[in-house]
Amino acid sequence: MISKPSKIYLVDDDADLRAATAQWLELADYQVETFSDAPSALARIRPDMSAVVISDVKMPKMDGMEFLARLTALDKDLPVVLITAHGDVQMAVKAIRQGAYEFIEKPFEPERLLDVLQRASEKRRLVLENRDLRRRLSGSVDMGKRLIGDCPAIQRLRAELLDVADTDAPVLIQGETGTGKEVVAQCLHEFSARQKGKFVAVNCGAIPENMVESELFGHERGAFTGADRRRIGRFEFAQGGSLFLDEIGTMPLSLQVKVLRALQEREIVRIGSNEPPPIDIRLISATHCDLLAECASARFREDLYYRINVVELRVPPLRERGGDILLLFDYFLAQSAVTYKRPAVSMRAIDAALLMSHNWPGNVRELKNVAERFVLSSLPEAQRLAAILGTSCQTTAGPESSALQELMRHYERGLLEHALTRHKGDVQLVMEELNLPRRTLNEKMTRHNLERKDFT
Ligand SMILES: Nc1ncnc2c1ncn2[C@@H]1O[C@H](COP(=O)(O)OP(=O)(O)OP(=O)(O)O)[C@@H](O)[C@H]1O
Ligand SMILES: [Mg+2]
Repeated sequence: MISKPSKIYLVDDDADLRAATAQWLELADYQVETFSDAPSALARIRPDMSAVVISDVKMPKMDGMEFLARLTALDKDLPVVLITAHGDVQMAVKAIRQGAYEFIEKPFEPERLLDVLQRASEKRRLVLENRDLRRRLSGSVDMGKRLIGDCPAIQRLRAELLDVADTDAPVLIQGETGTGKEVVAQCLHEFSARQKGKFVAVNCGAIPENMVESELFGHERGAFTGADRRRIGRFEFAQGGSLFLDEIGTMPLSLQVKVLRALQEREIVRIGSNEPPPIDIRLISATHCDLLAECASARFREDLYYRINVVELRVPPLRERGGDILLLFDYFLAQSAVTYKRPAVSMRAIDAALLMSHNWPGNVRELKNVAERFVLSSLPEAQRLAAILGTSCQTTAGPESSALQELMRHYERGLLEHALTRHKGDVQLVMEELNLPRRTLNEKMTRHNLERKDFT
């Protein structure tokens, strides 16, 4: 199937020819915009447009050849079809050499023009598809350096991020503490057209309740006692950029009403002012709590929930990311070595097993802290990680040697323990999650000295 480009730009100083050609094109289902001179067409044409340009050659103000040169400078792959009444072979050759897609002599049959347009549109479609693909590819490479991780869940998250980054749709980021919600929010901003604007983060839980309104919306001088200067609020400060409302679940109900109104009316009302400036922001929110449950218990407004949650991104906890734990740990080790000017260290297989069987309640932030302490620690390498993990959280005793079998045994125990804890000792659920027959699970629990009652 050949898709039509969204637009044909038709430039000719001959009003009759313009009207007649536009009519044919519209009958053939093209969307046409007509211009009597090249400069006014140039003012409308942007790079990356899904469009084909048809232009006369002899025109006042700017001729077709000059117009062609300007268009190729703007977007070298934009198809330009030149039409001329003067059967000038030399000019035709020159035009093609300079990048014109095709050269048509007047008078021409409508079919001839339609045929050329169909080919030009198809070529344009392929060029745009290809550009988009390349951009996505380089985008995902760059984002891979910001939001590290190879597991399927993180790969999916990066793809979703790239899909929505360049829209203005409000995004709600959900994830446990320390999973990387702020990194995701920053990526949304950096990979959007708003990247040159500001990224303004507000921690909704950290501002005293009586200050929140003026913090978000600003106030006029003299709006209340103590307001000795006009203050620009965070909403206004983020104009042209992105506003990140972190921990939105902690926002007091009274403020939720005002935020909802601002988003609905798309205006900000400074306290004490009645000239609301229009809002031009991309809203990103984050929460670690289940907002729908908060709605159900009337602690969060449902109407606000649906406003902020047009797109929902979930950041998975570290324990669901498998090998990413090691990938991230290596990355943080290297980063900390640079930050603290310490020699590079690497982890031993036995450390890897310890990391994999740890529970990570503090997620990536906890992992990063452990890596920093690992780099800074003066303990012998063999004791280092066990000592750090032992103090930061309870882990079962580490593997005794780095023989693969021992590491696997240790890792298996960690996984079983973790699944049993998660399902509160419900063996049926553990069997389902790990896809194990009951008999095998029982054998393994006995071998690892794990008892169901310790987890209920
Ligand atoms: N995928 C990742 N790649 C690289 N660094 C990460 C990644 N995820 C998190 N981090 C780092 O881990 C730390 C915690 O991340 P971040 O502050 O984004 O988490 P959060 O979900 O906002 O945490 P909280 O719930 O405590 O606000 C930061 O230092 C961040 O740079
Ligand atoms: Mg955060």
